[in-house]
Amino acid sequence: MTIFAIDTSCDETAAAVVEGRKVLSSVVYSQVLIHEKYGGVMPSVAKRAHAERIDSVVSQALAKARLMPSAIDAIAVTQGPGLAIALEVGIAKACKLAAAWGKPLVAVNHMEGHIYSNFTQNSRGSPIRDFDFPYLVLLVSGGHTELVIFREHLDYEVIGRTVDDAAGEALDKASKMLGFSYPGGPVIERLAEEAGNTDKYIFPRPLINRDTLNFSFSGLKTAFLYKIKDLDEESLVNEMRALASSFQEAVFAVLIAKTRLAVQKTGITRILLGGGVSVNRRLRYLFRREARLNGWWVQFPPFKYLNFDNAAMIGVAGAFKAERGIFVKPEMLDRKPRLSLPAFVTMPADMKFMKQRES
Ligand code: KG4
Ligand code: ZN
Repeated sequence: MTIFAIDTSCDETAAAVVEGRKVLSSVVYSQVLIHEKYGGVMPSVAKRAHAERIDSVVSQALAKARLMPSAIDAIAVTQGPGLAIALEVGIAKACKLAAAWGKPLVAVNHMEGHIYSNFTQNSRGSPIRDFDFPYLVLLVSGGHTELVIFREHLDYEVIGRTVDDAAGEALDKASKMLGFSYPGGPVIERLAEEAGNTDKYIFPRPLINRDTLNFSFSGLKTAFLYKIKDLDEESLVNEMRALASSFQEAVFAVLIAKTRLAVQKTGITRILLGGGVSVNRRLRYLFRREARLNGWWVQFPPFKYLNFDNAAMIGVAGAFKAERGIFVKPEMLDRKPRLSLPAFVTMPADMKFMKQRES
């Protein structure tokens, strides 16, 4: 199925054309430079920038795919989660296109997009990456930190999530405390590499020893702030790299520990990562090392842009929905800023799952 997809959930205006899992075109207009001066994403500024760019992003995506609208089977759009007034821009555009081209609409959860980003291929169908369910997915972005069982196509169960900041958000805030710009993840990564990924300060790792799959990063953030306030200006400059590195080590230690616990509880050892933080080289190294030690199989989005917000992943998730006839009427397609993947109902989900697997 050929899908035209749009995502305007946060600070990227994105459109793409996919054929099943193959990306025929993907255009992302990033607003990072616009938001940089505010130290974070300003919803009203994001909305205006989306509104200004959406038409050109849509036409570029179509032109790059070298397709006429008649070749499109359906239009997929992110319904949530995200910024309400930003989501609205993409949804309004998708509804307009659907009416103009006479195509059905598919509503996609942005987080299922991040999951399917792992199976998104280039236009030549590479990498192949066949599905081998079930997977345990760690989604780590600026807005989310979640552990999800990906049981079958379009079948998800959230088994853990952050109770306060997301991992990416924590990195963004730490970078800001050190006086750097948004987004902070790449800044912290670079400083940490320059410090040899040291863990000099051994910051707290919230909830790490607790029997919960939830995450918390706000205590770590506070400890970091106090440490910075303790230091005079000269020491701060000298210690900047070690501080950034220790902060990153603390965040990643929690991500690894909770994934380990989730593996224990679910018995699933096939692990996928997705979301902006999953591009981080140190995180990838730590996960690969953990996989080697424990016999896990771990996979990341295959191309760099697929870690971040983009519409190709929305199109791929949308294609699986369209193939199954899961469409939505335009009048029913309202933005859902707090949309979530289904959460677990009964714990231990593991038992339920293991039984199915054995039978
Ligand atoms: O998935 P994404 O592009 O947008 C959301 O849906 O939130 O993720 C953005 C997040 C930001 O918090 C950013 O700091 C983080 O991903 N990020 C990184 C890196 N590049 C971006 N975190 C760690 N290391 C990186 N290299
Ligand atoms: Zn995202």
